[in-house]
Amino acid sequence: MRQYQLCSPKLAFVALVLVLAGCGAPEPPEPPPVQALPVDRIATGIDPHSFAEFDRVRVSHLSLDLEADFRRRTLSGHVVLELERKVPGHQRLVLDTWDLDIRDVNAVQDDGELMPLSWRLGADSDYLGTPLVIALPQGISAVRVDYASSPDAFGLQWLDGEQTASGRPFLYSQSQPQYARTWVPLQDTPAVRYTFDAVVRGPRDLLVLMGAAGNAIETNPTGEYRFEMPEPIPSYLMAIAIGDLEFAEIGPRTGIYAESAWIGPAAEEFAGLEQMVEIGENLYGPYRWGRYDLLVLPASFPFGGMENPRLSYVTPTIIAGDGSLLALVAHELAHSWSGNLVTNAAWRDLWLNEGFTVYFEARIMEELYGREVRDQLARLAWDGLMETLETADPRDRQLVRDLSDRDPEQAFMRVPYDMGRFFLDWLEDRFGREILDTFLREYFDHFAFQSITSEDFRDYLDTHLLQAHPGRVSLDEIDAWLYQPGMPAFAVEPVSDAFEQVDDWRRRWQADEVALNELPVDDWSVHQWRHFLIGLEGALDAAQMAVMDERFDLTGQTNYEILFLWLMRAIEARYEPGIERLERFLLEVGRNKFTRPLYQALADSEWGREWAIEVYQRARPGYHALTRQAAERALGISD
Ligand code: BES
Ligand code: ZN
Repeated sequence: MRQYQLCSPKLAFVALVLVLAGCGAPEPPEPPPVQALPVDRIATGIDPHSFAEFDRVRVSHLSLDLEADFRRRTLSGHVVLELERKVPGHQRLVLDTWDLDIRDVNAVQDDGELMPLSWRLGADSDYLGTPLVIALPQGISAVRVDYASSPDAFGLQWLDGEQTASGRPFLYSQSQPQYARTWVPLQDTPAVRYTFDAVVRGPRDLLVLMGAAGNAIETNPTGEYRFEMPEPIPSYLMAIAIGDLEFAEIGPRTGIYAESAWIGPAAEEFAGLEQMVEIGENLYGPYRWGRYDLLVLPASFPFGGMENPRLSYVTPTIIAGDGSLLALVAHELAHSWSGNLVTNAAWRDLWLNEGFTVYFEARIMEELYGREVRDQLARLAWDGLMETLETADPRDRQLVRDLSDRDPEQAFMRVPYDMGRFFLDWLEDRFGREILDTFLREYFDHFAFQSITSEDFRDYLDTHLLQAHPGRVSLDEIDAWLYQPGMPAFAVEPVSDAFEQVDDWRRRWQADEVALNELPVDDWSVHQWRHFLIGLEGALDAAQMAVMDERFDLTGQTNYEILFLWLMRAIEARYEPGIERLERFLLEVGRNKFTRPLYQALADSEWGREWAIEVYQRARPGYHALTRQAAERALGISD
């Protein structure tokens, strides 16, 4: 046997335990020995975050048949996985699972008959779950797994009626990065793409939706819903949601799903959705997914948005009443090209998804609101990125990062997003917009429905941009962005005149040269307000905050981006009316971007940690597992 280099002793241990482990499940049929999982797949495989041997046998289609039980908090039923063999004679299928109750594994023969297969679960690993190793006889090209998800599945949030606007239960999934395996046994790697169909049964008075074609616009008395995803997708885009949902049409291929309390305001806020899709198409080519709908989730959703295909999920905290936070919708829509169409092959390549998307988002915002708003958003991103780069681990200060011995969750930080975006801004600066846009359109077309590595991109870029337009950019410069820590010195720093004016007013006000009521805030955009409040970090006392509140009613803000920054200042200044608002905020909102820094600031303050723990205990039942995890880490109460 070949000797393999191990990059992680922990993973080697996992492999060893796999060889030795007994069955982890209730009495499967007498198993002939299942071959051990080879160490090289884990240690040096192209995706270190999946146990799947996708270069040997690859899932090409899934058929799901599931029932949602809100009382038990389980999805149960079966999945049939259709397989393509890459290495003839390879006799094992390895699937990713995490906390799944595997009940039965059978081959589906050509005549449709089931034939029991030998299988076993490997050892649990803390963030990769448990490999399901199935003996795969010759000639078998479809496998059926009967299973149920755990009530604590990380990728599913089950909400009670008390935790939703409608007073009815709600379920939503969040599969990215590696949580699809907590509700479907599959090859959970962005390197594998498959089509799927599904039938899902839920409570009769609730609507079942999936990130797929076939979403109904009203409940169906049988409680049974059918879906189809004809375009091949990676597993992290698998999505399901069940709730008391209404639908509002926006345009011929766009619409909004939300609980009834949100449907009116959401339809107004997102009235430009159809137009956004058109802008996207004009920039980078046809929208290839049929419909584009938004699903407004309960406020516990841990993210701002998630680009589930055909049905992006969004937090209600972007419904500001004035369209000021639509960059997030532009972002999730842009993923229909960067991410969903051309996909990062592994989480080390995440910048291919997120960096391109932030750039694309900025282009959509510029089309909608002009260069000035784009510059403001760019400057906010730049300042945030600079702060991150100062404190980040050196191995995280570049676009392509080694995550092989880390939870893929850690892939998500500002660097792949904002440094990725400034990389594209820099290419735009060097080549001009027209050349870059043509290149990007061809890139999306060339790699459509494929998963690619940073190196695939680098090669394509070299041939189709660098060499096609010589003398403008060198490969060494590209490699500095991709592989060297820190922002390259030649990056183009964005400038916002509007922000410079805000800086000026802030300085003069703090120097008592102008009074608060002389600030020209009526002309300020939401982003100028954000910049103003960021610049006041640590600079206010409670008395000053009271004066500001009297003048601007910031505690009564309904724009969550502004309110969040104001509450950060309130924690620093121990400003009581703000703290009262903060308590309600934490009980209502689970969006990690807000809750994590708020809990962290409270934990770091002299007075706030005990109070925050007490509020957290009350808020916890309504939080998603990811929000809980981050808050507990911030508060120092994780085990
Ligand atoms: N794909 C991400 C959501 C995500 C982030 C999933 C981390 C899993 C882990 C989504 O497209 C995203 O980037 N959301 C941002 C939006 C923003 C950058 C405009 C968010 O939720 O804040
Ligand atoms: Zn994104």
